[in-house]
Amino acid sequence: MPEHDVLIIGAGLAGQRAALAAAQNGVSVAIMSKVHPVRSHSVAAAGGINAAIDVSDDWRSHAYDTVKGSDFLGDQDAIEVMCREAPGEVMHLEHIGVTFHRNERGELDLRAFGGASINRTAYVADITGQAILHVLYEQLLKHSSVVARYEEWFTTSLIIDDDGACVGVVARDIRSGRIETFAAKSVILASGGAGQCFKPTTNALICTADGMAQAYRAGAPLMDMEMIQYHPTTLAENGFLITEGARGEGAHLLNKDGERFMSKSAPNKMELASRDVVSRAEQTEINEGRGVGADGKGIYLDITVVPRKRTLEALREIVNIGKDFAGVDITREPIIIQPGQHYIMGGVKTDIDGQTPITGLYAAGEVACVSVHGGNRLGANSLLDTLIFGRRSGEHAAQRALSTPVPRISDTALRRDAKMIEEIIARPRSGRRVSEIKEELGTTMNSHCAVFRDGPGLQSAYETVRRLKEEAAHAYIDDSGTVFNQDVLGAIELGYMLDTAETIVAAAIERTESRGAQFRTDFPERNDAEWLKHINTTRGANGEPEISYSPVTITQWQPEERKY
Ligand code: FUM
Repeated sequence: MPEHDVLIIGAGLAGQRAALAAAQNGVSVAIMSKVHPVRSHSVAAAGGINAAIDVSDDWRSHAYDTVKGSDFLGDQDAIEVMCREAPGEVMHLEHIGVTFHRNERGELDLRAFGGASINRTAYVADITGQAILHVLYEQLLKHSSVVARYEEWFTTSLIIDDDGACVGVVARDIRSGRIETFAAKSVILASGGAGQCFKPTTNALICTADGMAQAYRAGAPLMDMEMIQYHPTTLAENGFLITEGARGEGAHLLNKDGERFMSKSAPNKMELASRDVVSRAEQTEINEGRGVGADGKGIYLDITVVPRKRTLEALREIVNIGKDFAGVDITREPIIIQPGQHYIMGGVKTDIDGQTPITGLYAAGEVACVSVHGGNRLGANSLLDTLIFGRRSGEHAAQRALSTPVPRISDTALRRDAKMIEEIIARPRSGRRVSEIKEELGTTMNSHCAVFRDGPGLQSAYETVRRLKEEAAHAYIDDSGTVFNQDVLGAIELGYMLDTAETIVAAAIERTESRGAQFRTDFPERNDAEWLKHINTTRGANGEPEISYSPVTITQWQPEERKY
């Protein structure tokens, strides 16, 4: 059985940063991912990373903007850590080879981004995540003697010992179908978000809530799950991300009358208000008949107001997306966008060192909820979150491993998971396909758990998810082979997504107020007296989510009315 001091599940930015930090702390590390690391979803992060680098900026200003962006649900101790450590992290990336844009003075250039009171976003054109991911991967290769890589291995479950500690995982080698137990003194979940619970989404097909569901099944609480971010600019119909960097560079949002409607809800920040505010404004235009496109469900994003040379240099990826997927030259005509699911603020509850309430289990990145984003994440704070809390988790997990004995593990979990896979493959080809259930889940969540929500819609979504869970228990697949059987993994992922979606809807039903990304049309006001608290969902004995609460940590910024 392979044994490692620190085992990291997921090889995006959080996972790779954790691996690097752990390796530099003198322990043996393994990083496991269901895709090749440079195909992780972090590769899609476009517009940049926030840090108070400018001489006229200050980490406290970044922290305040983040707290305000979170609609005062973010934990301020964690936000302070993230913002204080941000400049050092960005400079570290620079020094290890990330080719951030520079200005005419040769300094790091900083672009405008939503909800920020100053230009604070360092960037590599609109491929910032990709640029960082490749550099971190190179750095990990330098540590190959202490970092084992299990690429294209799919984790099927966490192993919890009799004392309730996480001591390893069971995983399947996707290439061969072989299943194996891995022992580890510390396990870090860095497996990304839950976007595939929604359709459409900006998230890659691999974002199937694996880590959230694995932790939830192991007894960890999921926090702030109702907080789902709809990005204001996703390509109409297919949901591709059109980076906020476009609005950072000056692009306008227009309704069918050519009006810059953001003047109504955010007269100061206009298109650069926080994402929840902009998405609501767009959806309101659409709902009230001022949308554009054949079905009236879109909004124009007019990038032609940005100098063409600048667009071709700083937004070149969306120039290509516009051409290839919408047939639009964005330097010459507006492109039709709409709000689309992009991010989940909630996740596995952790402290500022990534520790979950399960001993030996850590989480970092989108799978985790520290909570630095609260009710709404600011654009370009996600890359930062992955790196700061990835590093901190790696360091802490390594230190823990130094004083922890190698766990002894039986093959009980391995045999259980092997049987589960055999049963999926053996299901009769009748009833519903896994893919059909996934489709219904995505459209249900996108109908009822989106920019605007209400009690009856959420209740109907909850009932649908419960029904889909029953159907998924018998859903069939076509591939019965062992080599690259993505079909069987899809069935397991569907289970992860359904468990996670259930917690999202349960928490959204519970929170009877409007805050951040949760806008309840039946409870349209923020209600600090009753709801300035986190909702935690834990798996109850009957398998259904149980709700509890935890306080929001406030250090220096008292809740106030949020205006942009
Ligand atoms: O729009 C974007 O470039 C996305 C950035 C983010 O989600 O942080």
